[in-house]
Amino acid sequence: MIKVSNLRCNDTKNEIGIVDPIFSWVLESNERFVKQRKYQLQVSMDETFSSVIWNYTRYSEETTNIHFSGPQLEAKTRYYVRVKSWISKNVCTDWSEPIFFETPIFSEDEWHADWIRPDKIELTGDKRYRRPYIAEKKFQAKGTVTKARIYVSCLGLYEVKINDTKISHDYFRPGFTDYYYRVQFQSYDITKLIKANNKISITVGEGWYSGYLAFQGRKDYFGNINAVIAQIELTYDDGKIDILGTDETWAQSFGKIMYADLYNGEFYDDNQIEKNVGHMIDYPYTKKTLIPQEGPSVVKVSEINPVNIFRDHNNDLVLDMGQNMVGWLTFKNTHVSAEKVVLQHGEVLDKDGNFYNANLRSAKAKDTYIVSGNKEKIYQPHFTFHGFRYVKLEGFSDDVELSDFKGIVLSSNNDQIGEFRTGNRLINQLQSNIVWGERSNFFDIPTDCPQRDERLGWTADAQIFMPTASFNMNVDTNIKRWLKDFKPEQDEQDGAVPLVVPDILKGDSGDIIANTTSGWGDAATVIPWVLYEYFGDVSVLSQQYESMKNWVDYVRRQGTSEYLWDTDLQLADWVALDSPEDSYHGATDGGLVATAYFAHSTDILAKSAKVLGNMTDYEEYQQLFVNIKKSFQAHYLESDGFTVSSKTQTAYILPVYFDLIDEEKKQAAVDQLAKLIHENNDHLNTGFLGTPYISHVLSNYGYEDLAYRLLFNEDFPSWLYQVKHGATTMWEHWDGIKTDGSFWSADMNSFNHYAYGSIGDWMYQNIGGIRLKRPGFKKFIIAPKPNKKIGKATCTFNSKHGKIKSSWKLTDSKFSLTINIPANTEALVILPKPKDKEAVKKSVIKVSDGKAYFTNGKVKPDVITFDNLDFIKTDHFDERKVIVSEYDLGFELGSGKFHFEYKMN
Ligand code: BGC
Repeated sequence: MIKVSNLRCNDTKNEIGIVDPIFSWVLESNERFVKQRKYQLQVSMDETFSSVIWNYTRYSEETTNIHFSGPQLEAKTRYYVRVKSWISKNVCTDWSEPIFFETPIFSEDEWHADWIRPDKIELTGDKRYRRPYIAEKKFQAKGTVTKARIYVSCLGLYEVKINDTKISHDYFRPGFTDYYYRVQFQSYDITKLIKANNKISITVGEGWYSGYLAFQGRKDYFGNINAVIAQIELTYDDGKIDILGTDETWAQSFGKIMYADLYNGEFYDDNQIEKNVGHMIDYPYTKKTLIPQEGPSVVKVSEINPVNIFRDHNNDLVLDMGQNMVGWLTFKNTHVSAEKVVLQHGEVLDKDGNFYNANLRSAKAKDTYIVSGNKEKIYQPHFTFHGFRYVKLEGFSDDVELSDFKGIVLSSNNDQIGEFRTGNRLINQLQSNIVWGERSNFFDIPTDCPQRDERLGWTADAQIFMPTASFNMNVDTNIKRWLKDFKPEQDEQDGAVPLVVPDILKGDSGDIIANTTSGWGDAATVIPWVLYEYFGDVSVLSQQYESMKNWVDYVRRQGTSEYLWDTDLQLADWVALDSPEDSYHGATDGGLVATAYFAHSTDILAKSAKVLGNMTDYEEYQQLFVNIKKSFQAHYLESDGFTVSSKTQTAYILPVYFDLIDEEKKQAAVDQLAKLIHENNDHLNTGFLGTPYISHVLSNYGYEDLAYRLLFNEDFPSWLYQVKHGATTMWEHWDGIKTDGSFWSADMNSFNHYAYGSIGDWMYQNIGGIRLKRPGFKKFIIAPKPNKKIGKATCTFNSKHGKIKSSWKLTDSKFSLTINIPANTEALVILPKPKDKEAVKKSVIKVSDGKAYFTNGKVKPDVITFDNLDFIKTDHFDERKVIVSEYDLGFELGSGKFHFEYKMN
């Protein structure tokens, strides 16, 4: 069987709003060694493919990143796509299931709608929020409607209803961008909602545009007018089109929401009756910044049921969701005893088991519901979200039931593509915490935390977590959209990348810290490169190239020489434990960190230039990297070439990982690192910048056991320390809750910060053993490092080419491994070696239905018995590729499912 599945356009299918289509598909087969030789891709104006506008045939293995290069696409038009793939001259698949994509409004003059704003502003609540308003219009369909669309956006957050039905499953639209430069609009199919007489109502709240943002209590960052724009297009069966745009004829009302603020929560008065307060008025605001939505929206990804309800020692009624999560608590209005219900959200209980929310700082995270008579009503907030596990309940009667409540989990709609399970309960919980951290903090943009008065696009947090994030979920289009906000922000400050994107700290609050810092600004280079590697997405490199280069050039102008960044405030190894108690900065020298990252970014830029075929830049930045490396060695290494001037773990980790120590000296440097770890009682003490790579560096230089030791440590500081202390998401600090039960200062103590979840990348690569060889996992390695304390592991990664699987089991007597290599990919499988040399010699590997033998390090094809090993392609199996290390045995294999089994002792 061969077939094409999962045909996608910009990583999605049947989507409205696509401007530059990029196609991908998966070749599936249950036969071995299948490769695509040729494909035919068609784009048509109709579903039956009788009006094909692009018929594209190529002799190529490529199944991803196929850019549409047919005739100019028309705006607001639907196109159908299908593909067929050949695996040999005469063997091809059927046509794939067709998908469609539809283009949105392309240009400013296609907007036949005006920005409108409310005439009446009501300031409500103690913090004088702008009350959300409703813009409304009645309209008629003048015939049989065959197609209806709405294009809509606002300066704030909106929710659209047509005839009282919400038009989509999306929330928090138009999304968080730097609204000065880019305001997304959305395109929705509303055909099914249209009747003869219709009413459209758009509720608009403040959101990121004008609500409270960041820790300075700042409001109205982007503006103080929450305008809205919408265009409805009705196409009738006779081909005529009616266009209805927002204008001054739209009515203004207020509804039941008294206020809604992202940090502070919603106040909803169910006794309010929607009242008309006049008309919307014209708002002469630019349409130039309107851009079509790219990538997924925030949606409800799941629902969870609370696990407990109890009175704490303060007699507060507290609900426990059993999981730190992001979204809303909804409840049924059945067991309510007061006129007012108040929900206050918190992440953890204090030492004494009481409700606690001091770590939310100024964010009130409080939803208030004024009760109406309707006893079955389910209340769900709008235009606010909370990060919480516990909710303090006020206004409920004592007979309130767990089943009255539900947790609505909100997140960017990124597909989960990775799965990682082991035989170790604590490690599984750690993985679950990492995934929940990702779900929680990929909230339209990648954020630092979801609960306190931040929830911002902190750049370092995102860059260190991105490899792990990419193993767990397909974050490509989501993050690619966010990256587009980098360049305009950089243009404002000479190429420097701000600490947060969108840069809502600039101006007074930004100046308090710095306009940029290494490790944070390097998100500009690291993230596009990660997306390129994990998803094979070359377009992200071309899209971001200028931003990457501007960043490197900016850093090049800093420092006391062209090849050093030894000036400016550096946040460096943020919250590392090697500095004094309660200090934010780790002990690693800021100049060392900044110069190391400068080199790393330059290296990435050079490699990107090469991928994009820009050889002039490649040579220039390659040379720059060499010069920075020399300069790093002269300034931060002793004359032995491996002893680093800062005696911290991170000071060794970065130069080894970023290739700033000569290859032949790296082992000695890692020996020093191991020594420092031993001196610290076999524990890490790294912060944001050292932690992501510590285990990689140890594993890559012969300290696999020590890497496992760090992973298995259950006492402070370690990943499992948090797990043992009941964490269900990742903590910001190793000691968020200290050994005596007290907290790190409430100034900065998030219990849902994904940064230290960056260990996930190591777990996939070492426990599961799935490692990248060619971008997009077109070629990869499967090299699991089995460990008795884990016993077994199943690790799958749904790559752009299909599902990669590595599943192993280790018992006293036997090791077995089952792998899946998707069609059209190749893998180098490196089997873990038996413990001693004799065993290596004797061990018989049963490979599916065949046999192969270890030899003492000198593996040659002619000494391996190939009986029945029909699947090993001899042309891919030469000595150089097979021998991996003294006792390891590797096979280069094409696609298929394989099973290996042999004695380890
Ligand atoms: C954020 C971080 C961030 C740091 C840098 C914190 O408040 O939550 O994760 O990277 O500030 O200053």
